[in-house]
Amino acid sequence: MELLHREGLARIGRFRTPHGEVETPNIMPVINPNIRTLPIEIMKRMGMQCLITNSYIIRRTPELKEKAMKDGLHSLVGFDGPIMTDSGTFQSYVYGDVEFHNTDTVKFQVDIGSDISTILDIFSTPENSNEEASYAVEETKRRIDEVESYCERSNIAGPIQGSVYSELRARSAKIMSQSPASYLPIGGVVPLLEQYRYSELVDIILTSKLNSDFSKPIHLFGGGHPMFMGMAVLLGVDMFDSASYVKYAKDDRLLFPEGTRDLKELTEIPIWSPLHDRFSMSELKSLERGEKTQALAEHNLFTIYMELGEIRERIREQTLWQYVESKARSHPALMQAFRRILAYSEKVLPYTELYRKSPFFYFDEFSAKTPYGVRISNMGKFRENYVSIPKRFCLPAGLDPKFIHEIYEKSTVNFSFPFGDLMVPAELEESYPVQQSIICNRIPEHYSWKNVDIDEGAVTARQFPLEKIRFLADVQFGQGSGKALFSENIKIDISKNTGRIRTVRKNGEIIATMRAHDGYLALTMEGAKIIKELHKGIKNRVRVTEDSAKFNALGKSVFYQFIKECDPQIIPYNDVLVVDPQDNLVAVGRALASGREMREYKKGIAVTINHHQKNSS
Ligand code: GUN
Repeated sequence: MELLHREGLARIGRFRTPHGEVETPNIMPVINPNIRTLPIEIMKRMGMQCLITNSYIIRRTPELKEKAMKDGLHSLVGFDGPIMTDSGTFQSYVYGDVEFHNTDTVKFQVDIGSDISTILDIFSTPENSNEEASYAVEETKRRIDEVESYCERSNIAGPIQGSVYSELRARSAKIMSQSPASYLPIGGVVPLLEQYRYSELVDIILTSKLNSDFSKPIHLFGGGHPMFMGMAVLLGVDMFDSASYVKYAKDDRLLFPEGTRDLKELTEIPIWSPLHDRFSMSELKSLERGEKTQALAEHNLFTIYMELGEIRERIREQTLWQYVESKARSHPALMQAFRRILAYSEKVLPYTELYRKSPFFYFDEFSAKTPYGVRISNMGKFRENYVSIPKRFCLPAGLDPKFIHEIYEKSTVNFSFPFGDLMVPAELEESYPVQQSIICNRIPEHYSWKNVDIDEGAVTARQFPLEKIRFLADVQFGQGSGKALFSENIKIDISKNTGRIRTVRKNGEIIATMRAHDGYLALTMEGAKIIKELHKGIKNRVRVTEDSAKFNALGKSVFYQFIKECDPQIIPYNDVLVVDPQDNLVAVGRALASGREMREYKKGIAVTINHHQKNSS
């Protein structure tokens, strides 16, 4: 799995199969090899890149089995793109035991040329006791181990089971990540999806994701309703499958981005629907059964692809969080689930970028609990002598910034600004998300700066710009970095136009710049050398192979596969030092992933270089 764009745990990625690449997030429509509701051509026109079918049904139907064995799965289905096959686990859950065994089920799928074959895992239901769910996890482990030899030849899906028990989901996710399975579906969740139990799904998905190898795609079995897909992607799901487009069609139900509607209740066919230009509403309602199912299935699948397109666009512009936040208001079950997500903000923080391309929308008290809200309040703790901020040192918003800077400089106490429901250290006034937010006007009134001990004489106790860059350096590179970087012989260049800090020089040489877009620091090689001397070991570093270091020293990006070691505390979009195996600094650049992801991804760009040791000639 290659990471292309990101927003926290949500990602646009790419994975390869023998029949081509899939761009994620994406969906595999379920095709029943016996009943073709929609022609493949129509599905392809909607943008279908891959599909899923059931090897159990093929194997049980003599004509299908024979054709699959003779001509291959792709010829049987009539699709030359990636095809995943399921094993019959779901049928055994619905109808009781199936007549095949794990090894021969996998062998059959591999033999007919499936791009992703699924083991016969044990379906754990939400009603399972801990003991039953534990059996499902352990037996599923035994079954993935049993087909190890097939994993070398083919992509094998190793489902994560464990019912609603977080420890079991975590264990199952770790087992499957360490196993040779290259594709990780989250299983046993269909009953929860059908009952709108989204809050429990949040626990299951996040626990599974955070305990899985980031280089393996995560699939949500049965999770193809457009109402929940955005939220699932935000939690790290890459792939979905869906039979719902047909199931709902058979029941005269239409999928919409925010829910489902009965045909008989509808008056208008939406203008975006593929049915809009083909039927009037009364024509649609009076179609005979087969034709009606096909028409509604087409509408339903179109809705799913439309929603997926929106989700991918949201990740590219890094507004998926906002999308999910506003969509949560469309159903109480989603809202409850959204609140549950906020309980995981600390756990998601390591994967949350230092800044996003998009502004931060501050709506209400929930905004303070998002990972960005939590980060900004944690940043207060980077202050020396941090105490949870006493009110009398807080400044009311709306004061002239010049005045604030002036009283800051005549005092030595910690100042904070109200930022929605949070108090933010004054030094972070320009840094993401404080200045880059669009905020509802909810300003607490009771703060007073009047009690602050201000020296009205001309004495300047400290300089605001210097304190600001020192504070930012501590936040970005660790305690003590500010004083080490910005000690004597420092000159801070301030833009005449904007009044903002632009560059910082030491002995005439630029050591850091303050980035206009996010208000954080970027280091030059001179600045990076100071940080390297200050912090030993692996701190702030990405250590690369000897060969990679030669390229990185010339300004070429760092690729995941050449990373030998890195600081586990790296957060995406912060500056990192690129060092060779002997700890020589060869470049400094922007991390595109967290420390953990850097160790797990195997393909793609991990660090883009801003400054480097040598000029290419
Ligand atoms: N389809 C829906 N849920 C599941 C599951 O848990 N396992 C498998 N193999 N297929 C499924």
